[in-house]
Amino acid sequence: MTGTSPSPVNLHARLTEGLIAIRLMMALVSAASLASAAVLPDGPGKAETGRLCGKCHTLDQAISLRQGQAGWEETIAKMVNLGAQGSDEDFNTVLRYLVKYYGASSGTRAAGAGGTSETGRR
Ligand code: HEC
Repeated sequence: MTGTSPSPVNLHARLTEGLIAIRLMMALVSAASLASAAVLPDGPGKAETGRLCGKCHTLDQAISLRQGQAGWEETIAKMVNLGAQGSDEDFNTVLRYLVKYYGASSGTRAAGAGGTSETGRR
C-alpha cells in the first residue's frame, strides 16, 4: 500500500527549506541594519537615530545638516509632519544625539575636505 501521503523525509526537507529561508532573511535584515549603522558615530542614540531616521531616506541625508539644538528640533518636527514615527523618548534621544554629533559648533566638523558650502538655500 503506497499512498501519496507526504513522507516524513519530504516534510523534513520542506521544514529545512523554510528554516533556511528564514535564516537568509534574518541575515539580510541584520546586514542592512549594519550597513546603515556604519554611517553613524558610536554613542547613545545611535540605534534610535538609525531606526527612526533611515526609513524614508538614507541616513546620509538625515545627517546632512550641521545645526544647533533649535535647528534639529525644527528638522525633527518637520520629519514628524512628514510621517516619522516614534515615541517622544525616541525623538528626544535622537535630538540629543544629533545635537551632540551634528551640532553647529561641536568639534565634529567632518574633518578634512569636502566642506559644506552652506549657500544652497533655495
Ligand atoms: C516619514 C518619512 C521620513 C522620516 C521617518 C524621516 N524623514 Fe527626513 N525627510 C523626509 C522627506 C520626505 C524629506 C524631503 C523633504 C523636503 O525635501 O522638503 C526629508 C528630508 C530630510 C532632511 C533634509 C533637509 C530638510 O529639512 O529637508 C534632513 C536633514 C532629514 N530629513 C532628517 C531626518 C531625521 C533626523 C530623521 C529622524 C528623526 C528623519 N529625517 C526621518 C522624510 C522622512
